[in-house]
Amino acid sequence: MITLENISKVFHKGKENELVALADVSLQIAKGEFVTLVGANGSGKTTLLNIIGGVEKPSSGLVRINGEDITRIPEHKRSKWIARVFQNPNNGTAPDLTILDNFRLAALRTRHKSLRVGADKAFKKEAINRIADLGMGLENKLNQSMGNLSGGQRQALTLLMSVMDKTDILLLDEPTAALDPKSARVVLGLADKFNKQLGITVILITHSLKDAQQYGSRLIQLQEGKIARDINTESKWQLSLADISEWFG
Ligand SMILES: Nc1ncnc2c1ncn2[C@@H]1O[C@H](COP(=O)(O)OP(=O)(O)OP(=O)(O)O)[C@@H](O)[C@H]1O
Ligand SMILES: [Mg+2]
Repeated sequence: MITLENISKVFHKGKENELVALADVSLQIAKGEFVTLVGANGSGKTTLLNIIGGVEKPSSGLVRINGEDITRIPEHKRSKWIARVFQNPNNGTAPDLTILDNFRLAALRTRHKSLRVGADKAFKKEAINRIADLGMGLENKLNQSMGNLSGGQRQALTLLMSVMDKTDILLLDEPTAALDPKSARVVLGLADKFNKQLGITVILITHSLKDAQQYGSRLIQLQEGKIARDINTESKWQLSLADISEWFG
């Protein structure tokens, strides 16, 4: 359960360029929900994700996970619960390292330090199995450097790596913005699978009308830093694309 209590975020407070990015947002997201977050440019979507992920501290209000106040807990200490994938496929992986070494790094991020990850065959086998599941043929390119892959291939692997270990919450900020439709389907299909099979809570920011309609058990629209709409799947399917299109501002 993620709880936001009266979250406000003001940039440049007290200055001429003061900007209210989030205004008194309260929100509860239950474990296992798949929330799709939409809204016009500048409506506060990324700021909301940053506050949940600990990249930004709120100006006021509280963030709780499973009831525990984590508002002051820094980003790196939240990584045991929270994984993030960004718009830019170059974020989140080491381009000069091979696919396999990137997987090793990802596993080290959350696994207990004393666990010897990279050395064992079992780890490699597990990585191969997971990569083969993507259906992109990347299991045959384990020793290729990450930087040589296409944006779509990298983004799919980044998502896969982000849940290598125990992750409760997956934050996706326009993860498919730079991808072709086929890669986008692989990436979002993977997020959907993690949500349904592993019960991972997903928050997806998207500017794609179709994706907003297709993915998620709950659709939230932000408007000028406030929650303007918040609907469940059943209500969502009663909306036309034109209805949702209005929500994008
Ligand atoms: N670090 C920052 N410093 C100052 N202003 C910021 C900062 N980050 C965001 N803002 C401002 O806060 C507002 C909300 O930004 P945010 O990035 O959350 O919007 P968004 O909904 O993600 O937009 P987009 O769809 O364009 O990604 C914007 O007006 C933005 O300019
Ligand atoms: Mg954004």
